[in-house]
Parts: sequence; structure tokens; C-alpha cells
Amino acid sequence: MYKSILILLLVLGIHTLEAQSRWTTAAEEKAITDLMAQMTLAEKVGQMTLFTSDWDQTGPTLREGYREDIKTGKVGAIFNAHTADYNRELQRISVEETRLGIPLIFGYDVVHGYRTIFPIPLGEAASWNVVSAQENARIAAREAASAGLHWTFAPMVDVARDARWGRVMEGAGEDVYLGQVMARARVKGFQGDDLADPFTVVACAKHFAAYGAAQAGRDYHTVDISERSLREIYLPPFKTALDAGVGTFMTSFNEVDGVPASGNHHLLTDILRNEWGFEGFVVTDYTSINEMIPHGIVANEAEAGELAANAGVDMDMQGAIYYNNLVDQVANDLVSLERVDEAVREILRIKYALGLFDDPYRYNDLERQRDNIFTADHIAAARAAARESLVLLKNDQQTLPLAKTIKKLAVIGPLAISQEDMLGAWHADGRGANCVSVLSGIQEALGKGAAVTYLPGVPVVGDDATGIPAAVAAAKLADAVIVVAGENWTMSGEAASRTDINLPGRQAELIRQLHATGTPVIVVLLNGRPLALTDIVDYADAILEAWYPGTAGGQAIADIVFGDYAPAGKLPITFPRSVGQIPIYYNMKNTGRPLDFANKYTSKYLDESNDPLFPFGFGLTYTTFSFGTPEATVEQSRDSVTISVSIDVTNTGKRAGREVVQLYIRDLVGSVTRPVRELKAFQLVDLAAGERQTVQFSLTAEDLSFLRRDMSWGMEPGAFDIFIGNDSRATQRVSVVIE
Ligand code: GLC
Repeated sequence: MYKSILILLLVLGIHTLEAQSRWTTAAEEKAITDLMAQMTLAEKVGQMTLFTSDWDQTGPTLREGYREDIKTGKVGAIFNAHTADYNRELQRISVEETRLGIPLIFGYDVVHGYRTIFPIPLGEAASWNVVSAQENARIAAREAASAGLHWTFAPMVDVARDARWGRVMEGAGEDVYLGQVMARARVKGFQGDDLADPFTVVACAKHFAAYGAAQAGRDYHTVDISERSLREIYLPPFKTALDAGVGTFMTSFNEVDGVPASGNHHLLTDILRNEWGFEGFVVTDYTSINEMIPHGIVANEAEAGELAANAGVDMDMQGAIYYNNLVDQVANDLVSLERVDEAVREILRIKYALGLFDDPYRYNDLERQRDNIFTADHIAAARAAARESLVLLKNDQQTLPLAKTIKKLAVIGPLAISQEDMLGAWHADGRGANCVSVLSGIQEALGKGAAVTYLPGVPVVGDDATGIPAAVAAAKLADAVIVVAGENWTMSGEAASRTDINLPGRQAELIRQLHATGTPVIVVLLNGRPLALTDIVDYADAILEAWYPGTAGGQAIADIVFGDYAPAGKLPITFPRSVGQIPIYYNMKNTGRPLDFANKYTSKYLDESNDPLFPFGFGLTYTTFSFGTPEATVEQSRDSVTISVSIDVTNTGKRAGREVVQLYIRDLVGSVTRPVRELKAFQLVDLAAGERQTVQFSLTAEDLSFLRRDMSWGMEPGAFDIFIGNDSRATQRVSVVIE
């Protein structure tokens, strides 16, 4: 009797265990099992297929006939399709005209906003404000979900240390820790606490992995890094995204250790599934399975599909490789039915979690779309985010803020009147016509009274310098000149690497000639990557880095220029003096021959400094801060370490302001060499003029941990320096010894 009860409980238990997933209830899991039992192999492969619609193009190929594919159950996901009504019609085909009525999932690159566009992610990272980063993603999700979307291909969490790479604009810059906290904020913002909330979307951690390490900053180029670098630098933000609950991962185009990510079992199964326990599904990047043929790791599409499926890819974006080959490969035992079932189950779980089986049209409500997109509060949030993204790089003689009583202001450069360029790359359904240009923002701030003169100066690219004389003449008559310079938004983003990161065209010459007039010159930069500003830095009285600040960018720039708000941004990526220094980042190794100008035989250049022009973490504001001497106490037991650090920060200026108090460590001796600095914590501190605050940090053994010589993760006893300050050169230091 007891034995049979025990067996029954065991069976039930196994069944319940089998049915567990973070995304579904046991009942939903059973419904998935029942549904899959009805599905043909072709219908299962359909769920593993993602096609683009023809509303937007984000890659090298488009497809005709995707409506027919939906109708025949041969595609389970569509991207680049949006609006509530357009997607409703495609959803209707899938739900009402296919044999099993499985709803589609709709994805889109809602990276920094859907219609209300926020600063590019690199600019948002410059705010170091994780609270606003999460709120910005929440708003983006609200708008996307109201426009018939369920899934965003974001956040991009690739650490990027090479300014030549166009996609530095899309992430959080060069630092692992800043990348991790931004990844968590963005995932939480997009997904909220429950994917069933109809104003959330499932996020996608991309591009897995190490896409930012492309050789020479050339997009799609080879990635050749050690397992140690992979795991210590490029993987942590992905793991943080996973720990934050991200529902999908996207494979990268590049190879890692000789194997393209879309066929890389070590990445997709050993690490992602087995080590990290990922629950969700893995989608490839655009035709990246097909691209394993030119990579030279497979000879044909059938082999590519087999490699990808067996490596752990669940969904094929746009390649139609699974679509054309997977049924046969299962029939020929090249890919197991179990592997297909795993993939399909993960995909159906996410569709259930989104509520699509409860109501497949819940994201297709025209009133929701009307009421929740491009609203006044969303635009206000975008303006606030843009303000926080701006980084003041130079401000001699307190050139900024300008007084609103200024009588004559010259505004120069085609970027000053560009609305499109406020958007930056990956701007989803953002529209230039909705954007406030820099000139418009300035004119709005000054009102009708001021005399604001606009001149085109020189084009962003090209050799035409004919506009310089007129710009110089205007500058001579003005009380100040604002030159809006930088790159067109198309000069960064995907497939937009550059070998020359100086200001393009004749912009530098224009700035130098304007400086010669003696009128104060303020350079406002619109750009998607660090630029080498060495040839203009001495000819600008003030330099304000504005990235691509989004829909309300012009107003945000005016808010800062005229002092309604003080700038508080800090660089999330190093600005080199020249492209020849790349790769250059703050947390480099000391080497065995660190720079010593007195010794020829030390690590340096003959023709350039080792130092960047502007370091990671740098940014000025309209007041000044002083830092006291940090104090640290160590509490250590057999299995825990807590280092309590405190420092007094004082606003020594005449205006209120925000300081980003940054804490870096240096592990002086390790079983492998350690960087000279590592950011481990920061706090945004708002202080009134003259106000002092004691800022406190607490570090644990985890903060001191790294991949040791034997590739185990952990802390090693020894001496550590702790630096606290307002950029990565922080000099205020306290040393501790961990037993
Ligand atoms: C692109 C990008 C990827 C994007 C995808 C879909 O090639 O690499 O980031 O999400 O295709 O648009």
C-alpha cells in the first residue's frame, strides 16, 4: 500500500519536476506538452523560424511570401513589422488560418525607444543613472507593446573598447561593471516583473558573444581572444542580463576561438545552458547561420543548420536554413527530435509568458496604441534622459553656461539644424520630424528677443570649405559661437566602422578659424563613437559631448548650454588622442616596463602619449567638488570579507551639482596580472553649493574576485589599493590587506 502511494507520489513529483519552468505554470507546461504532441515536425520547425516583414530592413536580405509562410505554419516569429493593426492582421493569419492556431511573436530593434527616442545607449550610459536607464526602457517597452510588439532585440550588452567599431554607440562602453549595471537596468525596464503585463516586452541579450572585440574595430571581423578575456571581460554583462531574467539571447556574427557563435556549442550549451542554467530561447543574428559557409566552418546550408541546431540555436533569424533543412536532418538523425523539441518548448514558453495563448491580440489594440505612444510624459522623460547623457569635456573660463540675455549668438553647422541626426542609429519608429534640432532648442530657450544667426559652415563630410568665411564673419559679430560638429548618424551603428576618428570633413578647420576671431567658441558634438579631438581641443573654449540625444535632444542641449540644468555626464568610454592608440581603455595592465620617460626601454610611443585625451569616467559640471582622504576598514572571517570605505565629498563651487563618485580597485599582486584600475562601485551624489557628504561604499570578496591562474573564480589574499574620485585617474587612495 505505502509502496504504491510512494511510487504515485514519485511519478507525480517527476511529472511536476519535468513541468517546471520559470516562464510557465505547471498547467501551461502541460498545455505545451499537449500542443507539441499534436504538432508535425514541419510545424515545430516553423516555430524555430523567424522572418522579417517588409516594413523595415535591418540586414542583407528580404523575403517575399512571408504571409504564405505564416499561413502554412512554416514561420512562428516575425520581425521588423509593427503597429497594432498591421501586426493584428499577420497574427490573425497565424491564429485563425493555420491548423493549430499558434500565435506569432513579433520582434523589433527597440534599442533606445520605439517612437519617443532616448539618447543612444552609449549616451544613456554616460548618465551612469541606472534608475533612469530602467525607466527609459520601461517607456520604450510600453510604446513597443502598444504598437503590436512582444520582443525587443535589446539590450546590446557587448563591451566595446575600439572607437573604430560603429556599434560602440549601441552598448554601455568599455567597462565590465558599468556594462553589467546597465544591462540589468535595461532588461528590468523592458521586461518589468511579469511578461504577462501587456506593457512589457521580452528582451534579448545580444550579441552573444564578444562581438565588440572584432579585430581592428572592423564590423563582423574575427574575434581572437583568450578564454580568460572572454569570461572576464565579454561574458559578465550577459550573465548579469541572464540573472536579471532576460528571456532571449541573440548569437553574434563573429567567430569565437575559431567557431562562429551561431555554431558554437561551448558558448551556447556548455556555458549558456549548462553552466549558467539559461531558461529561454536563443535566436541567431540576421542570416548568421548561412554565414557559417563564408566563415568556412561548413560547406553548405544543410551542414550549417545541423551545426547550429546541435550547438544550441533555437531560432533562425531570416536565414531559412531550418525552414529548408531541419525536417530532413531530423529524419536522417543528424539533428535529434529531442533537440528540436527543446527549442520549440523554450519558444512556446515565452509565447505563453507573454500571454499570447490567452489572447493573441492583446497587443493589437488601436486605443492603446493611440494613448501610449509619443505622449507628453514620455517626451519629458526623453528630455531628462538627454540632459543626463551630456558630458562637458571642456569649459575654460566658465564659458558655459551662457546667459539667456545674450544678444548675438551664432550657431554653425548642418548638424545644428538636423532633426534626423538627433535620433542616432537603431531608432526603431523614431522620426526626424518629431525631433527638436539644436538650433530649435536654442531658439526656444532664448525666445524671440535674442539674435540667433545660423550658418551652415562646412558639411559634415567632404572637402567643401567655402562656407567658412561667412561663418567667421558671423562669429566676429557675435557674443558667442556654438558649432555643432561630429558625424552624421549613419556614420556609426552596424556596418559603420571608421579608420579615422578625427572630425570628418573640414570641421576642424572651421573651428580653428572661428577660434581665431576671439569670440568664445562652444563645440557641441553629435557622434556615435569617441572622436579624436586633439586637433580642435585647443581651439574650443567649451566642448559638450551630446552623442545622439534623441527626440528632445535640442531642448536638452539648450537646457545645459543656458544653465537651466548642470551637466553631470561622465564618459563611459575612453576618448583617445589618436586612432593609433587604439585599443586604449582605462583598465589596462601595467606591463613589465611601465612608462618611464627617463628610460627609453619602457612601454610608450615615439610620437604620442600613452594617455587618452579624455579618460573613462571623466566629465565636468558647473561647480567643483573636492574629495577628502578615503578611509577603509576590513572585516574578515573565514568565509567572508567586507571592506567598508568612506570619503567626504564637498561641493566647493557656487552652484548645486551632481558628482558621480567612482570607486576603483587595484589588486597589486595576483596569480595572473591584474589591471591597474577596475571600477567596482559608483554613486550619484547631488550636493548644494558648499554642501559636504560622507559617501560610503561596501566591497565584498566578490568585488575582489577574478579568474585566477587555474581559471577558478575567486579572491586572492594580498594588498589592494582603493581609489575614489570623479574619473578613472582618481588619486584619493587607501590601501587594505586581505589575509
Ligand atoms: C542586425 C543586427 C542585430 C539586429 C538584427 C535584427 O543585423 O546585428 O543587432 O537585432 O539584425 O534587426
